[in-house]
This record gives sequence, C-alpha cells and structure tokens, in this order.
Amino acid sequence: AVENDLVLVSNRQPYSHEYDDDGDVVVDRPAGGLTAGLDPVMQRAHGTWIAWGDGEADREVTGDDGTVRMPPEEESYALKRIWLSDDEVQAYYYGYSNRVLWPLCHGGVWQTEYANRHWRRYQQVNGKFADAVVDAIGDDSIVWFQDYHFALAPRQVREQVPDALLAHFWHITWPGWDTFRACPQAADILEGLLANDLLGFHVERYCYNFLDCVDEAFDDAFVDYDDNRVQYEGHTTHVAAFPLGIDANSVAQSAADTDEESWRSFKRDRGIPEESMVALGVDRLDYTKGIVERLKALEEFWRTRPEWQGELTYVQKADESRSLIPEYQNLQSNVEEAVERINERFGTDEWTPVVYIDDWLESDALNALYRYSDVMLVSALRDGMNLVAKEFVASQIDDDGVLVLSNQTGAHEQLGDQSVSINPYDTQEFANAIEEAVTMEETERHRRMRTLRERVADADLDAWMADVFAEIEEIRENRTVR
Ligand code: G6P
Repeated sequence: AVENDLVLVSNRQPYSHEYDDDGDVVVDRPAGGLTAGLDPVMQRAHGTWIAWGDGEADREVTGDDGTVRMPPEEESYALKRIWLSDDEVQAYYYGYSNRVLWPLCHGGVWQTEYANRHWRRYQQVNGKFADAVVDAIGDDSIVWFQDYHFALAPRQVREQVPDALLAHFWHITWPGWDTFRACPQAADILEGLLANDLLGFHVERYCYNFLDCVDEAFDDAFVDYDDNRVQYEGHTTHVAAFPLGIDANSVAQSAADTDEESWRSFKRDRGIPEESMVALGVDRLDYTKGIVERLKALEEFWRTRPEWQGELTYVQKADESRSLIPEYQNLQSNVEEAVERINERFGTDEWTPVVYIDDWLESDALNALYRYSDVMLVSALRDGMNLVAKEFVASQIDDDGVLVLSNQTGAHEQLGDQSVSINPYDTQEFANAIEEAVTMEETERHRRMRTLRERVADADLDAWMADVFAEIEEIRENRTVR
C-alpha cells in the first residue's frame, strides 16, 4: 500500500500520551531536534513511524495492533509503538545508546561505560525493531532508520529481506577512527550500518570520518572517497551529507504570532528590567551543549565589564534529559551551582543576571524569547547540527538579533561566517564575543541576520527531504536497472 511506502524508525516517538493531574489523557511532545524535525516530514509522506512507546498512557490509547494515528489533530500517518520492558530501557536506551554511542560519537571516550548486558540488550532491542520493520514493509517500501539507537537493525532487516531498500540518517557527529577504535563493538556497529543502501550525515566531515573508520576496520572493504561509497561483502553503501533544516516558514509564523506586549509581560513576570538586553540559551540538559562553559563566559563578561551588570540578562531555558545517567545528574547540578554562584555574585535587589527556566514554558513566551532576545548563545562542545541556532535565525523576522555560534557544531558550517563564531572552551574569546554581539551596529546586525535567514529558509526541511529522497530514488533506479 502507498501508505506503507515510507517506514521511519526512531527511538523517540513524536507524541506520547500521558496522564495529567486529574488522570485525564493528554498528548505530549518530547524535547530534542529529531522528532520535531521529522514529524512534518511524516505528515507529508504519510506511511508508518515505528518508535518506542514510552508514554504512561500510551497503552490505553493504542490499538491491539500497536498503532495510533498521528498527529492528534491531523491523523496523517500511523505511529507503531514498540513496548520495551524496564530492563530493555535501562540497558538499550540508558545503557548502550546513551552511555556508549552518545559520548563516543561526540568524542567523549572517557565518558563511555561498557557492560555486556547493555550490549546484549542493544542487539536484542534492535532485533525487535527490525522485526517490526519486516512486518511493516511491502515490495516498494523505503525504510528510513534514524540515529544511533539503531546501528544494528539495518543488518538484521537485510538478513530477513535481502532486497529491502534501507536508508539511515545519523543525527549526531561521527568521530575519527582514533576515537571510534576505542569501542569494543566497533566492527559490529560498522557492519550493521553498512547494510544500508544510503547512510546520511549532516556534514562532509562526518562522512569522511565514517569512511575512514570503515577503511581502517576492514581489510576487505573497498572505500571510494571520491564517490563516497563503500563496497563490503557484496553490498554497496552510499554515504552522503544532508544538513538537516527546519520548517522555517512555520517557525517564522510562530514568531509573527507573538508581539511586543507578550515580550514585555514575559520580562515583567520573570523580573527582567524593562530596558535590559536579553541573551538566550535553549538546550536539553546535556553535557555536549556547553552550558557550564557558557555560564563561565557570561560570568567573565560581567566581571570584566561591570557596566553591563543590569544591562544584559541571560535567560536559560533548560529541558531535563536522560536524568537516570550519573553524568547528566552531575551536569544538572553543575549548571544549577553556576547559576546560583553568578546570581549571588552580581545579583542585586533589582536585577537577577541569570533567569533559569527548567519547567514548562507556554509557547507564546517561548516564541517571544526567540523573536525578541537580542542574542542567542549556542556553545555546544560538539553537536551534529544544532537546530536551536536555526530556530533562532528563522524567528528573527525583524532581522535584529545576533547569533553567537560554537565552531564545534554542524550548523557552524552553514551559519558560522555570519555569526559571531566562538570556541566554547576559550572563555576570554567567548566573553569578547558576547560583547561584540551586544554592541554590534544595527546595519551590521541586519545585514548578517538577513543573510542567515535566507540560508535557513533556502536549506529548510523541505529542501532536506527532497535531497534525501532524490538520492534514495536514484539508488532505487540503479538497482532496478541491474
Ligand atoms: C538528540 C538525538 C535524538 C534524541 C534527542 C533527545 O537530538 O540525536 O535521537 O531523540 O537528542 O534525546 P532523548 O534521549 O530524550 O530522545
């Protein structure tokens, strides 16, 4: 069936069902760029989205076949929920996915923690998703795996359906061989991914790193660096860069739906002086995002430029993430400590330097923040893309704001030259960058932001999807010719 033509597989589901305080079922959307980015893709493509059903009320609203129609108001695709036991969640999600592959791929070799149990569960849960894929596909289906949770599933599907058309998009960075070779399961991970017909990354560097890892790991792999292709065990995998974009129009529309009155009332509610400029950070509470480094730079900024105390306020919107993992708990308390320290050091009766928001924020307030903040600080220590930077740009419909952007993000390849570029580890440079951003002349700000906005609008989600699917179609045609 046409409906089943696209089968998308991700760990995180786009919508979960939860119980509110009165015990009523409500729909919730998770934090993170992946699901937010792909939901509009699926709404256009229809098809089936396979994901972990992690919501408390999911089972109550899901049919016996494990599917619900999504999104709630439109019902344009089927969401097939996979049920995971506590042990599967612990070992596959918190364990191998987020204590091995996540830190490893971001270059944090020291943060990786290996346990046989985690690896075995990762294999088994990948198998569970692979079986669901095999059930869902027909002759013309395209299977599209997302991210590092499913490095093995492509091979597991290929073993059952040798002709399946398999694509995979890896949303995080891919490290160099010198980092990747530390992984005891390096060969299995690579072999799993090489069962794909197409493997996509955000930027060329990650493609190159992947090809090099394959080249180093297997004597009998043929790696074509010019054509970005690997031949291994009789199968060809195309590797290509597709920088993920956002739905720029709808972000701009949300920005246009808010107004200065919402902004003024947000500032009033949060105790931000009316005349103070605002710098903004929006992150999942993850150690790759450089939040502590950002707070350090702000502290240095206010220390060395006391005239800015009371004149620039920093708003940090933080979404709790993966908090069963000790590194994430540490990060949370380090961030909270830094916020307290800074607020004690520079705060007065009239002014709190850092406004920390870790609870739910209504969308009007969030939209106003994106539109009216003077500066956005993106300081990730490593980030596959970083869609928050793009969301800020697309929200700047008045072309007024300035983006400060880490050179360690994928987004920097597209937006770095018109941003104030930083190395997040260099506190002095970062503090200087904040000054440059808050004192930039209006004409310069407008010129840069207009350029950025055009780029984000041109390379939007539609363009990304068109590129990915054009490549998949080309692969499909070449296969039928054979
Ligand atoms: C990153 C990953 C996604 C993930 C998201 C949120 O963007 O690339 O795969 O969904 O973080 O993390 P979580 O663990 O909550 O799904």
